[in-house]
Amino acid sequence: MVPRAGLQADDELRILVTGANSGLGFAICTRLIDEFLETHPPSSRLALILTTRSQTKSSDTVQRLKAHLKRLCRREEKQSSGAGEELERRVRFQPEQLDLTCFLSIRRLARKLIRGTDGVDCPPSIDVLILNAGMGGWTGLNWPLTIWTVLTDMPHSVTWPLFKESGMGWLCKPQLPPSSKKAQINGQAVETTSARTEPPLGEVFTANVFGHYMLAHELAPLLGRSKRGARVIWLSSLEAYSKALDMNDFQGLQSKMVYECTKRITDVLALSSELSGTRPWVQEYFSITEDGHQSPPKMYLSHPGICATAIISLPLILEWLMIGAFYVARWIGSPWHTCSSYKGAVAPVWLALASSSVLAQLEIDAEGESRKGKWGSAIDIWGNERVARTEVEGWGWAGAVGEGAEWRSGMGKRARWRHARDLTEEKRVEFEESGREVWAEMERLRKDWEKRLDQHEAEAGQI
Ligand SMILES: NC(=O)c1ccc[n+]([C@@H]2O[C@H](COP(=O)([O-])OP(=O)(O)OC[C@H]3O[C@@H](n4cnc5c(N)ncnc54)[C@H](OP(=O)(O)O)[C@@H]3O)[C@@H](O)[C@H]2O)c1
Repeated sequence: MVPRAGLQADDELRILVTGANSGLGFAICTRLIDEFLETHPPSSRLALILTTRSQTKSSDTVQRLKAHLKRLCRREEKQSSGAGEELERRVRFQPEQLDLTCFLSIRRLARKLIRGTDGVDCPPSIDVLILNAGMGGWTGLNWPLTIWTVLTDMPHSVTWPLFKESGMGWLCKPQLPPSSKKAQINGQAVETTSARTEPPLGEVFTANVFGHYMLAHELAPLLGRSKRGARVIWLSSLEAYSKALDMNDFQGLQSKMVYECTKRITDVLALSSELSGTRPWVQEYFSITEDGHQSPPKMYLSHPGICATAIISLPLILEWLMIGAFYVARWIGSPWHTCSSYKGAVAPVWLALASSSVLAQLEIDAEGESRKGKWGSAIDIWGNERVARTEVEGWGWAGAVGEGAEWRSGMGKRARWRHARDLTEEKRVEFEESGREVWAEMERLRKDWEKRLDQHEAEAGQI
């Protein structure tokens, strides 16, 4: 058994997963348990910090994960007596609550994890942060277009669909409570409240990217303490089209492709995080000091292919039809229809558990240039899943002009979006510029919101 993720004997690997109660989040947790126990030495342990939006969802998630672990242990016990119990002791769960569209909830969680409550629930470090939670922001399907494209253009139409209808202008609830002042009116002490003015904050943008961005920043002290070098793993999508991102409508409030806009931001953010052009913002974001005292976390990008989850809510009969269409797509050659969440979890789990040296070999070339990948969960027609580099507009497969033939040929023609073009020098330069713009805007927004939160907490005497 080869220790992975740089683990030494008696080490605990601590992984935080957002949106752990459902779909891919839950599948990532079960797959982490399975693969960790299979590949890591018996003396190593796994701590899963699971976030959901309520206490009930957290308890239910832990119960289901414990049941999964017990089943695994029973199987092991049958093969060798005592082995099951041993396995069970190696995994522990820490349920937490987090709403990504509420910055006070993000701060509360980060403080709890950093400072602990009476010294409890306070991990010494976090090694891997899996930014999975998200929402679609769709209102329904354009049925005539759905039926037409599914019947005439499979599997392309169910890999890069044009028929989802997006909600527009959805905003988060106000972040801060009204400010209150005490005043003397006619000699009496009166408390007056007034609503604060807050800049608009897109709900899909905040749930999918910005809330996670704030969370990783707040957790930077714990990530910085990881002995093996922390990883921040983003969950993106095949639908991260470059046309969906408009810097004049960064949060996609006027967009009919707000989900795709958030996934494009995710791609650009993660893939450009090690380019020299974005360094000033990345260093500030992770509070990296010039003396290199803190080891900076690394960002990784993944996507789950396409699987049936609650992210798109359909009546039962339509859900079955959708699942049927996904399987047909796989059988006629789509490598991206992982269909089940467990198979869709293969790429993010691999990024969480692979050794740092393997990832470095894949993502940095001999000259030290960043060759970061978008690591997707892929599948063959027999249902065997694997991890595959995925093409990104303006970045290609690894940010190198002229490269990609080997990845392309390994996947078959169904792996490629119809409008994809080979990477040119000009597009590569545009991508780097986009990286600078995205990082600058995310940092501007972060600092603006932190100032507002600090002011509120100072007024409320919480700092
Ligand atoms: N399914 C696919 O084919 C597919 C394809 C590409 C990418 N993805 C990505 O995979 C990730 C997981 O999606 P899924 O398919 O597993 O969907 P899902 O089953 O709907 O799970 C989404 C999870 O995110 C949580 N969540 C939503 N809004 C949140 C918020 N404001 N704060 C905290 N948690 C929030 C949900 O919590 P509640 O249960 O409380 O709502 C749920 O746990 C998403 O980032 C999605 O974009 C999925």
